[in-house]
Amino acid sequence: MNSEASQIDRADAGAAPVVTDVVSRKPVSIELRDIVQEFPVHGGGSLRVIDGISLSLDRPEIVMLLGPSGCGKSTLLHMMGGVRPIGIRSPTSGQVSIDGVACDGAHDDAVMVFQRYANRPDLSVRDNVAFPFRLRHWRDKVPRAEAEQRVDAMLEAVGLGGHRRHRPAQLSGGQNQRVALARALVLQPRILLMDEPFGALDAQTRGDMQTLLHTLHRNNPCLIVFVTHDVTEALMLGDRVVVLSTQPARIADDFRIVEPRPRSSAWQRSSEAVAMEERILDQLHNRSAGRGTLSVTI
Ligand SMILES: Nc1ncnc2c1ncn2[C@@H]1O[C@H](COP(=O)(O)OP(=O)(O)O)[C@@H](O)[C@H]1O
Ligand SMILES: [Mg+2]
Repeated sequence: MNSEASQIDRADAGAAPVVTDVVSRKPVSIELRDIVQEFPVHGGGSLRVIDGISLSLDRPEIVMLLGPSGCGKSTLLHMMGGVRPIGIRSPTSGQVSIDGVACDGAHDDAVMVFQRYANRPDLSVRDNVAFPFRLRHWRDKVPRAEAEQRVDAMLEAVGLGGHRRHRPAQLSGGQNQRVALARALVLQPRILLMDEPFGALDAQTRGDMQTLLHTLHRNNPCLIVFVTHDVTEALMLGDRVVVLSTQPARIADDFRIVEPRPRSSAWQRSSEAVAMEERILDQLHNRSAGRGTLSVTI
């Protein structure tokens, strides 16, 4: 890591004001403090996967989380979503707070989207999107008429208005991921946690989904934490990029991208974007950068 640049980045990030979610007018923040995660190892002992991560996410923006395979990205994201591995204390030590309140379970404001869609094959597209409202918890919170209206509006917003009666098997991978995204967004979460959501899609479809996510976020900003292993995806979507080191994961880099979205392919080829790409790849491949201070603005 370029420690000088990172120190500047972190100092500036720390000085940033808490920004208010424009929809709910409530502040939105996730705070990870000294997070350590260890997993028991077969035959005894334990494996330290996350080694003291502290991170403040305090704006309704898109934060890209990158890191080598197996470094602990999903583990960290699950922690933010209150998804705990069965029979294992998580985190081993440290604390996750949402909006300043310690959080050790599922949280209504944080909803997850996975690469494998998790769509029910026996339900129509519309019923899949409406599925959370079958749960008593959400039925009690959202009046039926409002839930119906949200589902219909979200089907249109993700471009599935004409597919509402179809089953997931009749849809493409991209369309299935739109269903999963819609199901998350009907809950109007202030925090959306996405674990390599477009990783199984072809390049063209992935680009379309990135554009869709940008549009949905612009129209309805929330804090998105987006795990990816795709550096281009991080550069095209991220307001902020957090790079984790190899296991045990620590924060290897943390910087902002100020270029407005949608970002053009010309910007992607610019010296600024190329420098950021190199900076990320240096960390992912554990290369010693030695490139001096990068002109990345925070
Ligand atoms: N429930 C678990 N029990 C034991 N080891 C686990 C468990 N969950 C994750 N791990 C281990 O933790 C490491 C990080 O996993 P993960 O967070 O899925 O990585 P990533 O998403 O970065 O690829 C891996 O070595 C994985 O095998
Ligand atoms: Mg993962």
